[in-house]
Amino acid sequence: MNVRLMAAAAASVLALAGTAIAADAPTSASTLRALGAQIHLRIGTAAVPSDLSDPALSQITADQFSVLTPGNEMKWQVVEPQQGNFNWTGADNLVNFAEEHGELVRGHTLVWHNQLPNWLTQGVTNGTISDSQLRDLLHQHITTEVSRYRGRIWQWDVLNEMLADANPSQVKPTDFWISHLGVGIIADAFRWAHAADPEALLCYNDYNIAGEDGSNAKFNAAFALVRDLLAQKVPIDCVGDQGHLDLQYGFNPVLMTEDLHAYAKLGLKVAITEADVRMFVETTDSNQTPIVSPTDPTPNHTANPAASDWFIGMLQSCLAVKACISFTVWGFADAESWVPGAFRGEGNATIYDVNLNPKPQYTALQQTLSLAPGAPRRSRGGDRDREGDEGDRD
Ligand code: GLA
Repeated sequence: MNVRLMAAAAASVLALAGTAIAADAPTSASTLRALGAQIHLRIGTAAVPSDLSDPALSQITADQFSVLTPGNEMKWQVVEPQQGNFNWTGADNLVNFAEEHGELVRGHTLVWHNQLPNWLTQGVTNGTISDSQLRDLLHQHITTEVSRYRGRIWQWDVLNEMLADANPSQVKPTDFWISHLGVGIIADAFRWAHAADPEALLCYNDYNIAGEDGSNAKFNAAFALVRDLLAQKVPIDCVGDQGHLDLQYGFNPVLMTEDLHAYAKLGLKVAITEADVRMFVETTDSNQTPIVSPTDPTPNHTANPAASDWFIGMLQSCLAVKACISFTVWGFADAESWVPGAFRGEGNATIYDVNLNPKPQYTALQQTLSLAPGAPRRSRGGDRDREGDEGDRD
């Protein structure tokens, strides 16, 4: 652990110690972050700028979580909106906020087909950026961003969503990066990130790669990918399983546990990185806009036992696998969730309602975490060691 991380970890311990002696000690001791800390499991959320500036949101962001992921602020589209013109404000704010509150940071994300700057995609489309220039630009992007936060990022999602939704699955030949730069760009991206920050844990992040759909098709492809990278001595340290669930599909926590174990047996850490559980919600208009406004006349619609069960299932899978070092929800409040905007008629995917009251989904996580001392304790250096001392390696 380097000095900065140690400082953050020490601050975290002090923060927890501080809350333990506060007047409302029982409440503070039962925050998600405090309960996870019993076994050195970090509990996280994705945070956007309002989570850090709005008083009510920032209070929850600081109190409940011990690791933050920027929702958008580290994506290429945001950090370099015009070529050579950088905007680090949001990313800097998030890293500073995290350090002030004893939280670590999951950097997200360096190589993804989505949320790229227009100048880049247009340049590729109109031929003013050649493939070899694109490769240089990506190398520069990774080096610039990872170097900027060197020593301050716990885990980096180096690659996001490169695998096809098919059975069998494989690295998508049509992916923006693969189609232009070939599959070798995957290993190079990890090597470039490692060169820029040798201490950061480097992850492959994707959805449905821990058997969420019951088929293991995508798990098999992800497992083969990371096993091959390890065989080539590529510096990959972890697999991030997003954990975006939808009640209309199946979910099998036993399979998820087995799959997380399988990655761990390769010597990798694992993390749940973007957990939420969406469902169809009551609507009143013809566009099927979900009711997620503060004027929602049916406050009880947010209580759904199945959603609580699925949050519990994901968390239990993580708890059961010692190499699982963090459990992150993709935003904690329904009013801010990406779900209503992305899935017509669906919502109610997070753990706090639109009035920022904890939902039964929150209580489900809290109660499960209160049993965490019965789960294997993550190594303290789970924070960042590369020694594979997780006990999961064959
Ligand atoms: C994916 C990405 C995230 C985010 C969500 C939707 O899961 O990894 O960065 O964009 O979609 O909000």
